[in-house]
Amino acid sequence: MHNGTKASVHMRTLAIAMQKGGVGKSWLTRSLAVAASQDNLNVVVIDMDSQQSTVAWSERREADAPFVQFSTERELPALLKRAEDAGCDVVFIDTPPARSTETPAAVDAADMVLIPCTPDIEAYEQIARTERLARLAGKPALAVLTMTQPSGKSEQDIGQEIFANLKLAMALPSIARLKAHRDAAREGKTATETEPGGRAAQEIAALWMCIKEQANIGTNAVVHKGKRAKVQK
Ligand SMILES: Nc1ncnc2c1ncn2[C@@H]1O[C@H](COP(=O)(O)OP(=O)(O)OP(=O)(O)O)[C@@H](O)[C@H]1O
Ligand SMILES: [Mg+2]
Repeated sequence: MHNGTKASVHMRTLAIAMQKGGVGKSWLTRSLAVAASQDNLNVVVIDMDSQQSTVAWSERREADAPFVQFSTERELPALLKRAEDAGCDVVFIDTPPARSTETPAAVDAADMVLIPCTPDIEAYEQIARTERLARLAGKPALAVLTMTQPSGKSEQDIGQEIFANLKLAMALPSIARLKAHRDAAREGKTATETEPGGRAAQEIAALWMCIKEQANIGTNAVVHKGKRAKVQK
């Protein structure tokens, strides 16, 4: 029953997709999922890559949030329904590289598509395909420039220009290639947990604020402090 005073809570679903391999899809999924959990949101991560590197990361973790679950495209709608019923605020879906049936399914299920891209020609050549996938599905998309040189802004400027030519919005800040991200991954963590004051953590935190605003996350959400969305198999 609606009492008219509270907006209904809508779970938001973000698909992390990019045709090119190794550009940071799984890193972005994990980093944002932890940042959202630290922001007191109930988070579910769905790994649709059969390599299951995000599932493996979660198995290295000692913390039990965020909840990470592997899913095929066939199981995805039911899993999303269970997440919503469990009070989940935001779902991040990690997808495989190359052409797959999982990525279109994730994009169809999503409210927004995040497209990580490294500052190299091979990635720039492929980003149009993923942008097109999102556009044809009618989903807003945001590029995230990752693994840039830690010094200088020129790569960010070039990336921004390339994305603008595709009419693709870019999330800011871009993310520098830093050892802190890899070190954290080894422990099943992210830089906001292992080096909270450091540059890697600051960049993730700022990126999360940008994406949270762009995807309208948490504006209507009731924050369930101390409660964690858990999706039963
Ligand atoms: N900003 C960063 N700085 C340093 N290393 C990074 C950064 N972002 C990602 N990495 C590392 O780069 C590698 C590739 O990233 P990741 O596995 O997230 O890419 P992917 O797009 O998911 O790859 P695949 O297409 O194979 O699924 C990983 O070892 C990851 O830890
Ligand atoms: Mg991956």
